[in-house]
Amino acid sequence: MPKKHHAGITGIGSAVPEKIMTNHDWSKIVDTTDEWIVSRTGIKERRIADENTAASDLGLKAAKKALADADLKAKQIDLIIVTTTTPDYPLFPSTAALLQEKLGCTKAASFDLSAACSGFCYGLTTAAQFIETGFYQKILLVSVDILSKYVDKTDRNTCVLFGDGAGAVILEAVDPEYGLLGSDLGTDGSGAQYLIVPAGGTRKLLDKTSIGTAQQYIQMNGKEVFKFAVNTMPESVERALEKAGLKDTDIDMFIPHQANVRIIDAAMKRLKLSEEKVYINLDKYGNTSSASIPLALDEVYQAGRLKKGMILAVCGFGAGLTWGANVLRWCKK
Ligand code: ACO
Repeated sequence: MPKKHHAGITGIGSAVPEKIMTNHDWSKIVDTTDEWIVSRTGIKERRIADENTAASDLGLKAAKKALADADLKAKQIDLIIVTTTTPDYPLFPSTAALLQEKLGCTKAASFDLSAACSGFCYGLTTAAQFIETGFYQKILLVSVDILSKYVDKTDRNTCVLFGDGAGAVILEAVDPEYGLLGSDLGTDGSGAQYLIVPAGGTRKLLDKTSIGTAQQYIQMNGKEVFKFAVNTMPESVERALEKAGLKDTDIDMFIPHQANVRIIDAAMKRLKLSEEKVYINLDKYGNTSSASIPLALDEVYQAGRLKKGMILAVCGFGAGLTWGANVLRWCKK
């Protein structure tokens, strides 16, 4: 279907909790070392939300910055999409509805979208459809996760990997040569068991048989997720590039999901990307799930490394198993 409009990112913001937890801090809790974590993952420290901070609190901070960056008032927003797997409340209300009230987006519709660490790519692609058809003009996309509340503090295989954060973008119609040029989304549900929180849903309620057990926390088959990510990430970017009518050599900046530096290195090699074209900040934040791409994007933008007209590729992968990639021509100065 021909597009009526082209959707682009016109505002961006991010937020992380103040508390820093280093690898050394984890080594006092589980049998691990800074050397192991850095060499196997690239992570040095991560931010941890305090017990009173929920997804909407971090999301609010990022959203306010994105609105200011786009020079928009909350009342102008037509739709709020929140991508998260760690909402304020497990059933309802949605975190997007809570943000609608906190921000004062009086005319906005709202919903949450769950695609784990691929959430930002799913959210961006979904939001773009509304802009491209003309259904909505101004959309706030907030990607936020507080996975530190779901790590098993006795499982060294997973607890050291995750951190908390939020990133937000505003999407609006932009000049036709800019904005979202190509997207790829996918799922392989046969890998659902590889990354799972078994209890807390209708399959297994949080009750006296599950509370306090490993079932209420993240369980992961790291090797299987690693193999999946190494293959999927470059393939998904290639498909998004093809839809955009571009090649890997056209990429000026690549922002991958920040889970493991070895996964990113493998993707860089497959996509023939040099180091200066790839942004990595997982050393400071760990894996912040759906927040990781917009958090990195905001840092690159704030550092002045994104110039108008540059080709930007982003790619996420995670539980589901899900993946997503987007190729954009950057439209902001
Ligand atoms: N400290 C010290 N030793 C550890 C630690 C730790 N923190 N974690 C695991 N080990 C040990 C293991 O117990 C194992 O010991 P053993 O040989 O005595 O059994 C040994 O290290 C090797 O373990 P492996 O699992 O082989 O380590 P690997 O090199 O595969 O690295 C890792 C593990 C980092 C988890 C890797 O597999 C990985 O990054 N996988 C992808 C994970 C990922 O991206 N997850 C996020 C997806 S996004 C989402 O949707 C949330």
